[in-house]
Amino acid sequence: MTNVAEQWGINPQQFWLRGQRPEPVRFDPATGMWNVYGYPEVVKVLGDPATFSSDTMRVVPAGVLPRDRNMTEGNLVQMDEPDHKKLRRLVSEAFTPKVVADLEPRIAALTHELLDAAVERGRMELVADLAYPLPVIVIAELLGVPSSDRDLFKQWVDKMLEFAGQFSLVKKSAEQDRAIETALAQRKHLTEYLTAHATERARRPREDLLTKLVQAEVDGEHLSTNEVVNFATVLLIAGHITTTMLLGNTVLCLDAHPEHMARVRADRRRLPGAIEESLRFLSPFATLGRATTAEVELGGQQIPADKVLMVWIAAANRDERQFARPDEFDPTRDPNPHIGFGRGIHFCLGAPLARLEGRVALDILLSRFPDLRVDPEERPEFIPSPNMTGVRKLPLLLS
Ligand code: HEM
Repeated sequence: MTNVAEQWGINPQQFWLRGQRPEPVRFDPATGMWNVYGYPEVVKVLGDPATFSSDTMRVVPAGVLPRDRNMTEGNLVQMDEPDHKKLRRLVSEAFTPKVVADLEPRIAALTHELLDAAVERGRMELVADLAYPLPVIVIAELLGVPSSDRDLFKQWVDKMLEFAGQFSLVKKSAEQDRAIETALAQRKHLTEYLTAHATERARRPREDLLTKLVQAEVDGEHLSTNEVVNFATVLLIAGHITTTMLLGNTVLCLDAHPEHMARVRADRRRLPGAIEESLRFLSPFATLGRATTAEVELGGQQIPADKVLMVWIAAANRDERQFARPDEFDPTRDPNPHIGFGRGIHFCLGAPLARLEGRVALDILLSRFPDLRVDPEERPEFIPSPNMTGVRKLPLLLS
């Protein structure tokens, strides 16, 4: 069987896409971090947040990254209990299943609008024409910031994600330092932008998520502007890169497997299965960070306290101990317990939105273009970071 990762020219650092299976847990002296690759081991880490903390900044050696609490407070992803639970409950009240479900008609209308523009041009580059703008416009409208500013966000976020190397805690390099500096500068732009909007909402409330966050109370206390801004930053970044990757990857997978494309085209009820399998087969976020709070045994290895773990959910999603034929794209897998959205207390808050956007947009795309296929003359282009798997350019032929 041809390995599609090679056919597509995916970054060779993404070894798990090429059939390689490292031992489940391994220390890497080059990065100073413990890598967790195996499915049961990853599930154990994500299910025990007391031992495997999300507050990784606490153990990053001084001088590698600035330890600025102002940057992390309100960032759900990096918080532990009990603070995480309180904030998650609060934001879940603003980001309810109903809020998400009500977005369906808007997602459909936007998809049609974006596709109309592509049809007029007679060709399509999936990412620029649909997969990028759709989720960004949706999250911007939900938050209540002008979606017409999206080129600005794109510029900041793209620069933040430019670093294509492997981050190391022990070997500082000029390249890594430069990348961190650039990322921090871009984040500052985003923070200043969102602070201006959050401050304005405090004065003049509107019907948007930013206002709900400004007004929300946990145990009688409001979130600080800084917490609101850091959480909104997470949402805006998550809204940018993740669903974009999901849409691109799913089209790419279906195109490479014409028998599955035909089945999905014939019966759209098969689309959610294809989306879930795409999340397993090409997991957009390859790694999550954790830090041990105590010495712990994992996968036969003894890991000391206060060590950083790279938790490779993308590699775990290809573990043959969990998935039969892991390197085969099979949308009929049932059950499909992939962990592309994580697992446990930090399970992706945006998963219902990402799934809805994926289902609505791909359904419309397939309906409007019965002959849609990936341009055989132009290879897809992938995001260079080894920690992310997603196309950043996918030229399509419409007929
Ligand atoms: C958390 C993946 C879309 C917001 C996570 C985590 C993963 C993930 C793996 C767990 C992080 C951890 O355990 O450290 C994805 C993927 C997406 C997606 C693959 C799309 C295909 C979104 C969207 C939003 C979002 C669209 C918001 C609009 C969040 C938030 C968290 C999170 C706020 C933190 C939850 C917590 O810490 O309690 N996501 N995400 N995600 N995601 Fe997503």
